[in-house]
Amino acid sequence: MSVSIKTPEQIEKMRVAGRLASEVLDYITPYVVPGVTTGELDRLCHDYMVQVQDTIPAPLNYAPPGYPPYPKSICTSVNHQVCHGVPGDRVLKRGDIVNLDVTVISDGYHGDTSRMFLLGGDVSILARRLCQVTLESLWLGIAAVQPGAHLGDIGYAIQRHAERHGFSIVREFCGHGIGRKFHEEPQVLHYGRPGAGMELVPGMTFTIEPMINAGKPAISELPDGWTIVTKDRSLSAQWEHTILVTGTGHEVLTLSAGTPPEPAIFPSST
Ligand code: MF3
Ligand code: CO
Ligand code: CO
Repeated sequence: MSVSIKTPEQIEKMRVAGRLASEVLDYITPYVVPGVTTGELDRLCHDYMVQVQDTIPAPLNYAPPGYPPYPKSICTSVNHQVCHGVPGDRVLKRGDIVNLDVTVISDGYHGDTSRMFLLGGDVSILARRLCQVTLESLWLGIAAVQPGAHLGDIGYAIQRHAERHGFSIVREFCGHGIGRKFHEEPQVLHYGRPGAGMELVPGMTFTIEPMINAGKPAISELPDGWTIVTKDRSLSAQWEHTILVTGTGHEVLTLSAGTPPEPAIFPSST
């Protein structure tokens, strides 16, 4: 049990997997409109992965210890759903926020990324601010990734930004090493102290995927055994990228033409 350091050949496969995962989100974007069901989004993504990309949807039948097999090909987490929302008959409506989380397997390697989508023009100011601050927090975490830095530097950057905006960090779920396996070591916590935790080494690949709540951090699990919601029913947002530690810094592996750009963050607002 230890952290795998990827070879240049493996890194090239991770690059392909990461780009393909992001391209699924590009593909689905025009379909994420009021009136669509989460089940339709799942079916469209599934067919795109399997028929167009020739990738494998990693979530389908994924069954870590203690979980029932995951029944769908993507995760769709709406409003107060934090993560692992199971697609179904739910109809998305104007004002909703939804996270779509895509993980593909390409040539044996995983790429894992998620984005928030805002439905219609009438998303509340709170919901928009939560989505934006969560995206900023992800990128502040990414900015902390370089050889010699520690996992705690990532968590600290994320936690500091979210909490200074009055939001809270979900503690029960974290980013993760990724490669041949969907979830590998290390765990990448979205809170922490500078200098704490494992030192980052070139060739490590892991996700950063902060889940940030507008209200309290506590969560509960729905009876489906997967969907996680905020206990206080406050809104929750999440963004995710897969990251490589390089010799000089980092490379974001889950980029494609439609990736929302790194937000400009001014020192006064960080
Ligand atoms: N994609 C999620 C992550 O970022 C994991 C989903 S597990 C599933 O780690 F089975 F729900 F898909
Ligand atoms: Co992940
Ligand atoms: Co994911």
